[in-house]
Parts: sequence; C-alpha cells; structure tokens
Amino acid sequence: MASWAVIDRRGLSVAIVVAWAVGCGDDGTSSLAVDTEAVSTGSDGGGATTDATATEDAGSTGAPPEVTYHGQVRAMLELHCVSCHTAGNIAPFPLTTYDEVMPLRETILAAVDAGTMPPWMPEAGCRDYVGDLTMTAEDIATLHEWVESGAAEGAPDAYVAPELPPNVSLSRVDVSLSSPEPYTPTASPDDYRCFLLDWPHEEVTYVTGFQTVPDDLTMVHHVIAFGVGPDKVAEYEALDAAEPGAGYTCFGGPGGEITDVDSAGLWLGAWAPGSIAGDFPEGTGIRMEPGAKVVLQIHYNTLVAEPRPDQTAVEFRVDDQVEKPAHMMLWANPSWLQGGMPIPAGQASVSHEFELDPTPYVNLFTDVVPVDEPFVIMAATHHMHTLGTRGRHSIVHADGSETCLLSLPRWDFNWQSQYRFAEPQRFNPGDKLRLECEWNNAAGDSDVNWGDGTRDEMCLGAFFITAP
Ligand code: HEC
Repeated sequence: MASWAVIDRRGLSVAIVVAWAVGCGDDGTSSLAVDTEAVSTGSDGGGATTDATATEDAGSTGAPPEVTYHGQVRAMLELHCVSCHTAGNIAPFPLTTYDEVMPLRETILAAVDAGTMPPWMPEAGCRDYVGDLTMTAEDIATLHEWVESGAAEGAPDAYVAPELPPNVSLSRVDVSLSSPEPYTPTASPDDYRCFLLDWPHEEVTYVTGFQTVPDDLTMVHHVIAFGVGPDKVAEYEALDAAEPGAGYTCFGGPGGEITDVDSAGLWLGAWAPGSIAGDFPEGTGIRMEPGAKVVLQIHYNTLVAEPRPDQTAVEFRVDDQVEKPAHMMLWANPSWLQGGMPIPAGQASVSHEFELDPTPYVNLFTDVVPVDEPFVIMAATHHMHTLGTRGRHSIVHADGSETCLLSLPRWDFNWQSQYRFAEPQRFNPGDKLRLECEWNNAAGDSDVNWGDGTRDEMCLGAFFITAP
C-alpha cells in the first residue's frame, strides 16, 4: 500500500503501475484464486508474451484472434471491474475503453491471477453471498487468451452488454446523517475519525436498510455505523467534547470503553469499496430507541490525495414496525476482552479460537430470539485490526459436521464489509458458533492484546440474526 504515494492519476505511467502490481501480488501469493490448469490452456509456459511474438503467433495461423476486447473482454471488465475502475472513482485508473485497458493488460492479468482483483475477500467454496464479484476460471482463461494472442480490439459491433446483477440499493432514504460540518483529515496517512450523530426519531423505530454515500472517494477507505443506546450516550458525548473540531479520534470501534462484548457498539452497517448495501432482508430491521445516537466511524487515507474537506453521509431506511426484529449479535470470547487474547511480539502466526452455543444466553444481549430456540443468521461481518491475517466463522453442529459461514483467508483492514448470505442459515440449540482469528506480529516489538487502539487487536464476528 505504500506505493499509493507514487500514483499520480494525471501522469500515471505503466512502469509505475507494473511495479505497483508486483507489490500488490506479494500478499496474495499464498491464496491464488486461480484454477491453474484451466488458465494454462493455450499458454506457452505462462510467461509474459511480448507484443511481437503474440502478433507473430496470430499471424502464423492466419486466423483473426478469437478473443477480442469488444468480443469478450469489455463485457467481462464491465461486469467485474468497472463499478470501481471509472474516472474519479475509488480505483486509481479507469478500465472503460480499449485505449485504457490495452497498455495495462499485463498488470490486469497479474492482479486477476493473484486473486487481488476484483477485490472479493471471502474464500470460494465457503458459501454464496449477495453481490459476489468473483470471476470464473473460464473468464480468467479467456482473459489470458486475449492478452497472449496480442490483445486485439476487434469490431465494436461484436460487443454484447453484460447482464449486470440486480443493484442492491436502498428503496427509500428516510434518514440521512453526516457530520454537521465537513472534516478535513489531520493525521497522515491514516485518520480514524468518529462522528456522534443524533438519531432523529422520538419513538421506537427500526433500521431496515443502510447505505453509505462516500463524499471524497480518494480518501474514504471504510465506514462503519454503530448504534449507541440512550444509556451510553453521555460517555460518547464526553469523547466528542474532549477534542476540538468535528468528531473525535477512534480506531477499531466507536471509541467508548469496551467492558463487555455488547458495549463494543451495535454494528448497524459497514462499508468498504464494493460493499453491498441497501435494504435489509425483507421484513427485518434493527431496533433503535428514542434518544439513541449513531457513531459514524470513517477511516481516511490521504496517501493518494491531499487532505480535503469530507462530509460522507450514511442513509437509512426506517420503519415503525417490522415482522422480524433483527439483532447484530457481536461474537467474541468474553475472556479476550479481559486481556486473554495475547499476540506475542516476534510471532508470525498466532491464532485464537472460540466456540460456544449462544442459544442459552441470547437474552443477555437481545430479545429478538427467545432462549434455547433456533435462530437464523442472514449476514456476517468479521473484524480485526491491521495485524490480522485470517478470519473464519462457522457452525459446528452437534454431530461434529461443520457449516462455513464466512472465510477470509487474507484479511485486509481496508476491505471490511458485511457479507449477506444468499441463503439464510439456521442455527439450532446444541450447535456451536465458532470464530477463528490469526495474526502476524513478527515485526512487532511489543506484545499485543485486545483493545480498540491502533496498536491493539480484536477478533470479533458480527451476525445479523432474527427469529426463524
Ligand atoms: C470494488 C472496487 C474494485 C473492483 C470491482 C475492481 N477494482 Fe481494481 N482496484 C480497486 C482499488 C481501490 C485499487 C487500488 C489498490 C487497492 O486499494 O487495493 C485497485 C487496483 C487495481 C490494480 C492495480 C493494483 C493491483 O492489484 O495490481 C489493477 C491492475 C486492478 N485494480 C485491476 C482490476 C481488474 C482487472 C478488475 C476486474 C477484474 C478490478 N480491478 C476490479 C478497486 C476495484
């Protein structure tokens, strides 16, 4: 990520991008998402093919290349890349025309092969989620064939527009919240800022959808919205008052003192580039009490752009009643919060695991599902800080079998988001909800433990649950 600094959008040179891509590939090498057998078809050893040899190859057969930009590649990029790779968007360069794509073809291939692009963090084969961007092995093979056969443009009329997945968005915006005044990041390169915002309703309401409206996409890396119950508002007001300017400094959570799992804040929604947001599953919503507040946590990164004023907003759909009240169940080993999650300095692989049947205790944190009854999990979010390398959530059934909920084999703090299950998952009493986290503290000179500071760590699952 340090190479952000050398990217200048106006003068982006291919050499820089290539050097950068090599860097990007480094951390993805352990988890190649590529079916190598499928992609090596038709390649003469998989090495980079120069233009000259590629043209000769195509010429020697006398046939026009079968894979062209307009024929296959354009639609593929529109489906998997263009949501971020347009001018002024979160990605550092556009991939919308042949002239933009052609000089970057080797870089594109390297990123796709390394599994770093498109940035879809869940491991394949765990389960299906709404909005999965992953390319098939067949798509990747086609991309290889295009690059290796000389990356021809082809005839524009060969283009067939892709069928874009249904846009998951908010059907209604009932509440829009943002910092009352724009905030210009002061800490460089990372500024983690929390804004305490009033929840405008004076009766009980339910949040039934959430989306983020990032203001300055060059700076806003991720956004998490937390609900703060009326009983905790004073604590957060004190944090806000203690710092000048809009908001206050925070890092891994909303900033309040964490004394038990529930006081880590009620996760309303999390956004990272490419996140799916919008209406919650039909009939479900998270209860907000009158007098509650929302903490908006924004991670600004100013390596690529000069700090500028930002007024990122979050939008909510709100209903008075819902069929199935939902709860964002935070999941961690309570003893971790008391210093029981040591991550010793100098160790490259430290893991902690926790599994328990929550059904006898659910009443301790929510009344949306009765004690000792089944419940349904509709979405999962994982949270660690910057030393995290791997995270996994699963259900260990009473018979010993396992159901995977979410597996993040290369954790990246910058790509935190909520993953909504394509099919809701039932949890039965007697099953155990399992959480695994792994960290790398090899470069650290001090031991790390649970906390919400930049030098602390967490291992937290957040599950959107309802009654069946
Ligand atoms: C969800 C948004 C998003 C999507 C979708 C996306 N990108 Fe990116 N891309 C980014 C961002 C942001 C960066 C800047 C580096 C970073 O933050 O990881 C980037 C960087 C890159 C880079 C340079 C760094 C690297 O990893 O090599 C390449 C090449 C790239 N993208 C290609 C693609 C291709 C090809 C696709 C589609 C197959 C794609 N991207 C889809 C957001 C996206």
